[in-house]
Amino acid sequence: MNTIIEFKHARKSYGDHVVIPDLNLKIEKGEFVTLIGSSGSGKTTILKMINGLIPLDAGSVYVEGKDIATEDLISLRRNIGYAIQGSGLFPHMDVEDNIAYVPNLLNKKDKQRTRKAVEKWIQVVGLERDLLDRYPDELSGGQQQRVGIARALAASPEILLMDEPFGAVDDITRHMLQDEIKRIHEQTGVTIVFVTHDIREALKLGTKVIVLEHGEIAQYDTPEAIQQAPANDYVKQLISDK
Ligand SMILES: Nc1ncnc2c1ncn2[C@@H]1O[C@H](COP(=O)(O)OP(=O)(O)OP(=O)(O)O)[C@@H](O)[C@H]1O
Ligand SMILES: [Mg+2]
Repeated sequence: MNTIIEFKHARKSYGDHVVIPDLNLKIEKGEFVTLIGSSGSGKTTILKMINGLIPLDAGSVYVEGKDIATEDLISLRRNIGYAIQGSGLFPHMDVEDNIAYVPNLLNKKDKQRTRKAVEKWIQVVGLERDLLDRYPDELSGGQQQRVGIARALAASPEILLMDEPFGAVDDITRHMLQDEIKRIHEQTGVTIVFVTHDIREALKLGTKVIVLEHGEIAQYDTPEAIQQAPANDYVKQLISDK
């Protein structure tokens, strides 16, 4: 297997509050890794360590074999899509310009190419073409979420980081978005790290699931293995809520 993300003895604290004591983790290329744990367990921190938004106190993070501490963060992030709850769209740009943001940077002179990329990604996430000239505040929560995913994917990243992206939508929309992201993963082969509070979502989407407890990995395994052999009482409790 081909490791795409690796943490080696990564550590992060705020003052004397140790959030991530000593994280060692390998994520293989093409996996859909779901990251679940209580509020404050360090999920967002881990995600932001991957794209360099949170610097480490000690240890290293490697993306495609390169220590990100010595990488150019702009080009690193161009290869890592980031989708967050509430979509994080640019409010002053319409849907088309939001999705075209990174492709525009990359194909400065080739408008046609950017246009094609936008057309492709709105289809992939299941959005209607007539939404392209609307602004984010003229969209429903689920539509905003889809635009956020299309924008993250439009840069054709190798890695997609998603932080509770479906937290703010109703159950029906959430199920549709879950099915879509699963299909996108299967079609594109992009490596996904997906933070969630919802154990059902973690088990449904993940090819691997990480259960995080106070900044430490309680278990990292397939959804089947986690259900068959929970590593400790915390994991047992978590899957009993399913
Ligand atoms: N800038 C900061 N300064 C101080 N403490 C912080 C800061 N950012 C995060 N923390 C603390 O670090 C811990 C981990 O935060 P993190 O955001 O990673 O949790 P999380 O697992 O994503 O939680 P949630 O499920 O609520 O989003 C929390 O206790 C939080 O209060
Ligand atoms: Mg969080």
